[in-house]
Order: sequence, then C-alpha cells, then structure tokens
Amino acid sequence: MIVPIYLENSTKIHYDVTIDQLPKLIFDTKVAIVTNDTISSLHLEKLLGKIEAPSLHVITIPDGERYKNLATIEKILDELFTHKLDRKSLLIAFGGGVIGDMTGFTASLYQRGIDFVQIPTTLLSQVDASVGGKTGVNNRFGKNLIGAFYQPKAVYIDTDFLATLPSREFGAGIAEIIKMAVMFDLDYFDYLESVDFSDKLSLERVIQRSVELKAWVVNQDEKEAGIRAVLNYGHTFAHVIENETAYKQYLHGEAVAIGMVMANRLAVALGLLSLEEETRIKALLLKHNLPTSYTIKDSEAFYAKFFLDKKSANEKIKFILPKGLGDFEVRDDIDKALLIKILNEYSGDQD
Ligand SMILES: NC(=O)c1ccc[n+]([C@@H]2O[C@H](COP(=O)([O-])OP(=O)(O)OC[C@H]3O[C@@H](n4cnc5c(N)ncnc54)[C@H](O)[C@@H]3O)[C@@H](O)[C@H]2O)c1
Ligand SMILES: [Zn+2]
Repeated sequence: MIVPIYLENSTKIHYDVTIDQLPKLIFDTKVAIVTNDTISSLHLEKLLGKIEAPSLHVITIPDGERYKNLATIEKILDELFTHKLDRKSLLIAFGGGVIGDMTGFTASLYQRGIDFVQIPTTLLSQVDASVGGKTGVNNRFGKNLIGAFYQPKAVYIDTDFLATLPSREFGAGIAEIIKMAVMFDLDYFDYLESVDFSDKLSLERVIQRSVELKAWVVNQDEKEAGIRAVLNYGHTFAHVIENETAYKQYLHGEAVAIGMVMANRLAVALGLLSLEEETRIKALLLKHNLPTSYTIKDSEAFYAKFFLDKKSANEKIKFILPKGLGDFEVRDDIDKALLIKILNEYSGDQD
C-alpha cells in the first residue's frame, strides 16, 4: 500500500510512503547508506540485495542517541566528500529515528542539499519519525535543537525488519500509535483494541493509518506551532519524566505512555474525558506492557520542570488533552493548584 504525502499548503512537495516488502531500488546516481552496526549486522545484506546503483557506500555510525550530534554529522559529511558524492547523489537512511534524523539533516547540508530516502527499521520511526521532514541533532542545551525541515524523496516501510526489534522498542512505537488514535480517530482506537500486532497485514494497516494521520497533520502545519503541537499529547509530562530519570530508565515512548496517563487524569478533572475512556486508554497501554505509573517525589519540582523547554520565562505551558476518544483540546489556562493536585496523586504507590 502507498500513502501519498502532499505538502500542498506550504512547500508543494510530494512523496510516497510505501508500506510493503522492500522493493528493488534502482538509482542512476551514487548512493550512500547511513546505518549503524546493530542494524547492519541484522539487515544490511537484505538491503544491499535490493539496491542497484553505479556506486554504493555504506557509512556506519555508532548506535545510540548520545551520538546524535554535530560531531557525527561532520564524520558522515567527511565520508561523503571522501567518496566524492556529488549534488545528484542520494543518501539512504537505514535505521531507527536516530539514523533517520541524522541522515536527513546531513542530506540537507551536503553541497546545500541532496536527495535522501528513508528506510525506517523501528516501529517508532516507521509510524512517526520518518514522516514529516523534521531532521536534526541534539546538543548540550537539549534534544533536536539543531536541524532543518527537509523532506525525503520517498519512504519505504517493510515490517519484516521489525522481527528483530527488542520488544520494549516495539512497545515504544505502539505508545506513539495510541497517541495518534486518541487525538484524532476513534475508529482507529477501536481497531487498536482488537488488532493482533503479530499479524503482518494488520500491522501494516496500523502503520498505514498512523502515517496517514501524521501526513494529514504535517500537511496542515508543516513547520510547527498549530495542529502539529497536538502530536505532543503526553509529551509535556514525558519530557519531565525523561529529565528526572536522566533519559536512562524509560524509552521515549514509554515516558510518553506515562505522560498520556497523567494528561488523561487532567482531562478527566476538567470534564473532557470520561472515567471509562480513561480506563480504555490505560488498558490498551498496559496490554502492550507499557508503563502507566510513576512516582513523583516532589510535585513542585516536577511542576517547575514543565517550564524547562520554554523559550521565555512567561511562556504558558500548553497541555494537549484528549476530548473523548478521537478528539483533542489544547489548553494553556490550567491552574497551578489543579496541576499540583494531579501530580500529588503520583506521590505514592499507584495501581
Ligand atoms: N523527525 C521526527 O519527526 C521524529 C519523531 C519522533 C522521534 N524522532 C527521533 O527519533 C529518535 C528515536 O527513534 P527510535 O525510537 O527509532 O530509536 P533509535 O533510532 O535509537 O533505535 C532504537 C534502537 O533499535 C535499534 N534498531 C533499529 N532497528 C532495529 C531492528 N530492525 N532490529 C533490531 N534493532 C534495531 C537501533 O540500533 C537502536 O539501538 C529520537 O532521536 C527522536 O528524537 C524524530
Ligand atoms: Zn514522541
């Protein structure tokens, strides 16, 4: 199946996301694949068997979010110059979101921009990171602070790559999928409750819907602010949890699962979400072994961290909240007292 992405509202860019067996890819230009050792040892042979190009180089970078920085970009660029790639050459991002974000950013920089293609190999990158054109790296001031909006020429999603993905990484992708359903699509949420993720066709359908929803959001709002902010449901809480646990205890998607549960509490308190709906979301997260509880030691300190990634001191915190299942409300008028009350619910043991 093919999900066409049309960014007609802004850049007029069009590309296809193909969800299927990886097809034969024939290029008439130099190609460089960017990947890491983990992925290459598992899947590079398959990829190489599918690519035809006049010259092909594999650039391997170390595995891990901590290498998602400018130093690594510089190394990739050096290799591209060493292998004399030209302005018509093409990069292939072969890996998870870390590889995708860095390859896309490198493509945007090399000789002022060359084409790139995404072949995402984690569930998270298949449903989220590979679509939308956000690329970039981290620095000591924070995550993804340096980068560019730069769209790929094509995205190829082959769920067979996911067979080797650790189950926690799989769950982290599911958390972002559940996020999309709760925000935008009740039918999709219903489907997620009943679907068997180990069935290939069902999994492809799940991915297809997430990609469609993300594409729809990005098209409305390619460069942030407006509706794209809705993709941050659960993330306001998750970022604080990730910060408090020094990015060690939880995968991002796991922190988002807890964050959604916290946001849901707030939505219930505001009368936006029913207790029954709240329970359904939590049950779906638990079904996929995602964490849904977290102990807050100091609610005031947790609250203060909401403001950490704000650009100015008096900027309001935006809470993206579910309005029933399949709709959202963005609120920036939440009383501190109510938030502290919600956060205090997490001060002891939860069920
Ligand atoms: N650009 C965007 O819009 C966007 C959206 C969401 C997240 N992101 C970024 O994506 C990154 C997270 O992506 P991720 O969750 O894919 O993490 P990741 O790229 O670090 O991959 C997770 C781990 O799985 C390994 N792996 C990848 N494919 C595998 C496979 N098929 N089998 C076995 N192991 C495999 C990787 O080597 C890595 O160790 C973050 O840096 C985040 O900022 C970007
Ligand atoms: Zn996320």
